Amino acid sequence: GADAGPGLDLAGRHVVVSAGGTREPLDPVRFLGNRSSGRQGYALARAAVARGARVTLVAAHTELADPAGAHVVRVGTTAELREAVLAAAGDADAVVMAAAPADFRPVAVSEAKIKKADDGSAPTIELAQNPDVLAELAAARPRPGAVVVGFAAETGDADGTVLEHARAKLARKGCDLLVVNDVSGGAVFGRDDNEAVVLGADGSAVEVPHGSKTRLAHAIWDQVVPRLHDGAG
Ligand code: CTP
Ligand code: CA
Repeated sequence: GADAGPGLDLAGRHVVVSAGGTREPLDPVRFLGNRSSGRQGYALARAAVARGARVTLVAAHTELADPAGAHVVRVGTTAELREAVLAAAGDADAVVMAAAPADFRPVAVSEAKIKKADDGSAPTIELAQNPDVLAELAAARPRPGAVVVGFAAETGDADGTVLEHARAKLARKGCDLLVVNDVSGGAVFGRDDNEAVVLGADGSAVEVPHGSKTRLAHAIWDQVVPRLHDGAG
């Protein structure tokens, strides 16, 4: 019935969830980071445990405690996150990229602390683009048939609406599902609740009304479950 919840519809499945913001070191004491709290990814991991899955949580920086029942792999940089996600994805039925991997890293990491110059000048930091883990997963499919899910925070602009940008990102990334947050009215980062549209590569669009990150997590798994390949375990 409606009160019974989703049950153990992920039993026998291995799911991988990434969460949090990666940090790219500049020197021993400094890094480039972002404001991702990791809360949506942690909610996804907890919801998957509740639905019976074996869960690998690849966690970049967060201030959250490890969720009970999940195998947590801590990472720092986007390169480390890529390694951990690809390793865990080898036997995964689904991979959900809720992390905010830094798009760029400093080309050079100084072994010594960068010091101020006496003449008041400031260093220029050269950046290189990081690999796109989601696009790589979607193209390479470490396990054939695995469901690949991405996230996108979008705003509308002169080039298109939020949904137009999101459809283009879904196609560009090649994933099966894209969870879209409209951040036009202010950032979602660090908030307790969320609303979203879950777009499918099959053309589907499911609106998830304003609610907790736990509720959105379950709504995402509700979209993943019917797309899972046969042959659990
Ligand atoms: N992502 C990833 N690897 C990266 C950057 C992003 O796997 N190096 C994933 C995120 O985890 C998310 C999705 O890609 O699931 C979309 O992230 P987003 O930052 O919106 O996409 P980008 O391609 O980086 O585009 P933008 O230029 O808009 O930041
Ligand atoms: Ca990005």
